[in-house]
Amino acid sequence: MSEETSVVANKTVGAPGAGTDACRTLAEAFASLGLHRPMRLNRYQAGDELTYDVTGVSPAVRATVRLKIEKFVGGGFAGQVYRATVLAVEGQPIAGLDVGGTYALKILLPPSPGNTRFRDTLYAVGFQGPFSLQVNPAAMRAGAIWQKLIRRASAIRFSDDGAVKDILCTFVDGRLGSCGELSEWVEGRQWRFEVDDHIDLRGKYLRGKPVEVAQLGSPEYLAKRRFMAEFVAMLHEMGAPELARQYEWGTCKSQPNVMKRDGMDDDPAAGLTALDFRAGLALLPFLPMSPGDFRLIAKGIARGSLVQFDRGDLVRLEAFMNAHSDRFKDLWPALGELQQVEKAYRDSLPDVTHHHVRLFCDGQLWGSILDGAVTSWRIRNVTDDATTAALRRSRALTVGFGLLGLVGMVCVLAAACVLILAILHRHTQPITLRVVLVALVFAVVGPLAGKLFRRVAGREDYRRHYGAVFSSPGYFYRALRGRSIEKVMAWYCAGRMSADRAVRTAGSPGRYLLHLPLSFLPAGLHRFLTDRAYAGQVMRNVALRPVHLYFNAQARESWLRDMVGQGRRRGMLSAEDAAEIEGRLHEPFIQKYLKSLAVHVCLMPAGHVISAIIGLCVALKYGKSLGEGLVIAGGIVAFFQVTPISPGSCLRGLYVLFLVVKERNFKDYNIAVFLAFFKYVGYLAFPIQMTSRYPTLARFMAAHWATGAANYVPVFGEYGGLLEHAVFDTFYNRPLTLRRRAGLRARRRSALPARVWHAAVLAVVAAGVLVAFHKVAHAGAAPTLRQMWYLVPWPLLTAGYLTALWAGRTKGSKRILLGLLVGLATAMLYCGWSALAGPGASAGAVGSVAWREDLGLNLLGSGFIFTVLTLLGALAEELHVSDKDCRQTGD
Ligand SMILES: Nc1ncnc2c1ncn2[C@@H]1O[C@H](COP(=O)(O)OP(=O)(O)O)[C@@H](O)[C@H]1O
Ligand SMILES: [Mg+2]
Repeated sequence: MSEETSVVANKTVGAPGAGTDACRTLAEAFASLGLHRPMRLNRYQAGDELTYDVTGVSPAVRATVRLKIEKFVGGGFAGQVYRATVLAVEGQPIAGLDVGGTYALKILLPPSPGNTRFRDTLYAVGFQGPFSLQVNPAAMRAGAIWQKLIRRASAIRFSDDGAVKDILCTFVDGRLGSCGELSEWVEGRQWRFEVDDHIDLRGKYLRGKPVEVAQLGSPEYLAKRRFMAEFVAMLHEMGAPELARQYEWGTCKSQPNVMKRDGMDDDPAAGLTALDFRAGLALLPFLPMSPGDFRLIAKGIARGSLVQFDRGDLVRLEAFMNAHSDRFKDLWPALGELQQVEKAYRDSLPDVTHHHVRLFCDGQLWGSILDGAVTSWRIRNVTDDATTAALRRSRALTVGFGLLGLVGMVCVLAAACVLILAILHRHTQPITLRVVLVALVFAVVGPLAGKLFRRVAGREDYRRHYGAVFSSPGYFYRALRGRSIEKVMAWYCAGRMSADRAVRTAGSPGRYLLHLPLSFLPAGLHRFLTDRAYAGQVMRNVALRPVHLYFNAQARESWLRDMVGQGRRRGMLSAEDAAEIEGRLHEPFIQKYLKSLAVHVCLMPAGHVISAIIGLCVALKYGKSLGEGLVIAGGIVAFFQVTPISPGSCLRGLYVLFLVVKERNFKDYNIAVFLAFFKYVGYLAFPIQMTSRYPTLARFMAAHWATGAANYVPVFGEYGGLLEHAVFDTFYNRPLTLRRRAGLRARRRSALPARVWHAAVLAVVAAGVLVAFHKVAHAGAAPTLRQMWYLVPWPLLTAGYLTALWAGRTKGSKRILLGLLVGLATAMLYCGWSALAGPGASAGAVGSVAWREDLGLNLLGSGFIFTVLTLLGALAEELHVSDKDCRQTGD
């Protein structure tokens, strides 16, 4: 393997992971233990300096690059991304790589071990081998060359060289044990949250219906969608259908892979840049992970690709390059290398769904699969140079070493089989504790032993390490200390402890043991339980800060400034927007808004507390046993989670109502006062209210709160993902669209005569229809409303709708009142009929106490349900805008 030597040459300068003081201290503490094995590391810290032997992508020249990590940018399943500055380049020059320049460094090992395990498991199921992009330089090269060729193709297609980020060189990181790449750093942002009160048109436009394009309100969103669709089409044309998955809109996760470059805000379509050509998760036919995956799986199967990852079609690529041969002149050597490395890559894995019969008749294939395995062990630091050389010499040794890697899995499977058999035969032979214990020991000790054997067999330093562990109690203790330091470093990086505490914990086994069980909790909770200062700060934030914000104008201003700062950093706000918001900070309405927001934030936990208290009270009163009580309490809490209105949101609504009354000002709160009563939308009540007066601030606040909520969702909540945009659209743009439509209705109404008498007629008709339903559907029987539940809503919804429709110019509040009265009147008429002439009413019973009680209860129940239904019908009419409305009002 051409890059194997670089594994050995690659080194970190200074202590590894020593970017921050705490990490440096921990790394030095580890080094001072004098262990025979190196410190394990998952990721780098800002400030770390790294040296790599790199190979340019095209031309494939060699150089040595020294760089400094500036910051960690992110990383999901494919790898970890950093922004880094190049400090020095030695060797042949690589075009685009300059000393002092800033670049994106991607190492194909996820920062989170959990993500790594998930990714590797999917890949192993799909291809029966380790994750190639991490462990196989040929796979790394293949992906890089594909990206270079795609970049050229996009320059032809989009007439823009920058539509794909440039990839400069690849390398092997011997410290983390993974391949990596250096590419152009793209200064840019994810999408802007655009105000769009024509969101209904957007849907129509996307479905291909004719719409007035000038009215479309989300130009950037539409431009990005169009760009990604065209990009996907281009990738298919080039023969890269599986790479296209990175840009398929329907996967709901692809959106962050396209950024918009800074300084291109004037043109919605300009500066869009595709930047991620490294798939993370293999797409298995039985495991679609997003709505879009179903279609992709079907298309893959049609192509003959059952498991999809990054396979391309080189014949198609060559045809594409031939068709544009003048533009690809300098890239033909790259295609030559691609053909070589693709073959080496594909043949390094068993990959039964693609190789199938070849596995039985192609000895050479097995040779390269074993070669691939040896390379992967070397790159992941499972073996050292000496073992690697020995494995390269003997196929039998390689197979043996591979089998060692399976020991753990075999033990776990065996334990699972024993348990399943024991459960199946429990009737003839009761399960004994001994069987369970043996299975558990197998499942726990097996993988540990497998790992240990492999380390000992694979690396000389581990042989010395374990030799000393088992022969010297002093070394054994030091080894434990070493492990605890590594763990503490990981905890510190995950935000589970402060720098001081990390250093103290690493120095004290007692403290470490106290933290160990807590490390299974979520990071925030772990820190809350162990760090008094942090817990105090959290409590202050939850309990006191909103109060402080309510009473202190300065605190409110700095709060908004913080949010604006965050928005700037995330590219949600331009410099001008930020300046505009900060310039209006002192205006009374903004202050009022911030105050209300403080109250809203304050009531956030209150909602949960109140629903828990209600649940508890009801459970205490009605629960007959502990179990039943818990079920009742849980049910009530869950109920308030799904209902649109909860005790917390009611409090919020009442607060806004209080403001209206206190200030005798309805106009400034006319929307917020209704919305605030609803959950989720309630947080956006004020931004929606402010839209016309403070558009920038309103849009920003809505984006800030909507994305904040979406980011809690794993995988799909990723910053820049479709979910956060959908949340913003649902809670901000949709209400705005409804508001605009209501305005249109109002304008159309103003030309019509006012009318109220029709409401009485409608009530009589609705009651008549209900009676008729009763007679027809249940002739002879005496059905209650409950038995007719599927028929009841229709006459009532229609009556409500028609009441609003025929009310003409009548004022809005009066129309709502009319809708309500129609419901009530219908209920009275229907209940009256049912009590006096219905099948259950006999002459003797009329007027009796039981009859009166029945009538009262019926009136109460149906009165409530009927009015809700007629109000809904009226509301539907208020929001319904026909094309005729639009034409008549010139919208
Ligand atoms: N070259 C780059 N310039 C600027 N930002 C980048 C660059 N590469 C990646 N990023 C940022 O890092 C995020 C994650 O990178 P990506 O390569 O998509 O990794 P993954 O999807 O595997 O986590 C991107 O969404 C983007 O915000
Ligand atoms: Mg990505």
